[in-house]
Amino acid sequence: MVRAGEEGQKLSAEDILFILSGTEEEGAILYAAAERVRKRCVGDEVHLRGIIEFSNFCIQNCLYCGLRRDNHALLRYRMVPAEIFQVAKNVRSQGFRTVVLQSGEDPWYNRERISELIQEIKSQTDLAITLSLGERTFAEYRAWKEAGADRYLLKYETSSPAIFRRLRPGRALGDRLKGLGWLRDLGYEVGSGNMVGLPGQTDEDLAKDIGLFKKYDFDMVGIGPFIAHPQTPLAWAVNGHLNRTLKVLAITRMITRDTNMPATTATGVLDKDGRQKALLAGANVIMPDMTPLIYRAYYQIYPGKAQITFDHHGIADLISSLGRRISQGSGQRIRS
Ligand code: 5AD
Ligand code: SF4
Repeated sequence: MVRAGEEGQKLSAEDILFILSGTEEEGAILYAAAERVRKRCVGDEVHLRGIIEFSNFCIQNCLYCGLRRDNHALLRYRMVPAEIFQVAKNVRSQGFRTVVLQSGEDPWYNRERISELIQEIKSQTDLAITLSLGERTFAEYRAWKEAGADRYLLKYETSSPAIFRRLRPGRALGDRLKGLGWLRDLGYEVGSGNMVGLPGQTDEDLAKDIGLFKKYDFDMVGIGPFIAHPQTPLAWAVNGHLNRTLKVLAITRMITRDTNMPATTATGVLDKDGRQKALLAGANVIMPDMTPLIYRAYYQIYPGKAQITFDHHGIADLISSLGRRISQGSGQRIRS
């Protein structure tokens, strides 16, 4: 089955389920196969994206997330545009070619303010800009594309409408998928992704998640384990497993072939070598956190996140120790 996947043959939902249920030894064979596909389809370059988490205000109330609006224990911050711009310049001067502007769903950062920020960054740097600002209106997505944004990240989190509804009160999976379609139509490179190990999530659900990655042909796919946050209604829940996350990642690499896939920070929280393991199971992107230290502890989507710090030498050493190299390009998807 893994061999068929490696060769690019279509895998059915049953095939995916079978691979997901494999033993640890079979997992190792799967990761090696995903690595061969990664090498063949996207090469040995690892793309670095500097991420700035500029506001932790959020009007949503996702049960899994520390930034949810009902978490009154969290101190909220919002960087002003001039400060974001300065950090973006710093991101460029450290050698990054892409900046990711991320926040909770924060209405203060409306269409005009984000458009101005994009224009400022685009007029003074050659950075590619990825936005990750949650579910917004078509008019906002359009204005930001016109202002010069290149990419948009919007994880659909889970392909199960029931889990989605339960964990994201008042929101529906269908609307999120519709937004992803708009982004594609507007010409963005589109990234999505899921969490592995959500309460109530089955292997069947994960197989469907993988099917959706293929169906939507996303340019980027981020797959991370769920990590229980003590200040949320899911404080009691069990964390996702690293190996299960790596399997979902590896199968997604085999199926999507040339999509860009980060070794997510959350894998590094579960295991100090988590991101390295992800890079050895099909991932080809790292997104170091470039948020100023004074804010970082408050962008606690899940616990342990702020402790994963960016150390240029450490990352460069890790990448070269794996026989890979840091990409010098702007890091857009290159179809194989
Ligand atoms: N554990 C892991 N990932 C989480 N996210 C939100 N909450 C958690 C959590 N408890 C992820 C979601 C979201 C991204 C910003 O962070 O996938 O899209
Ligand atoms: Fe807000 Fe995103 Fe957290 Fe949901 S996952 S509460 S939308 S920051």
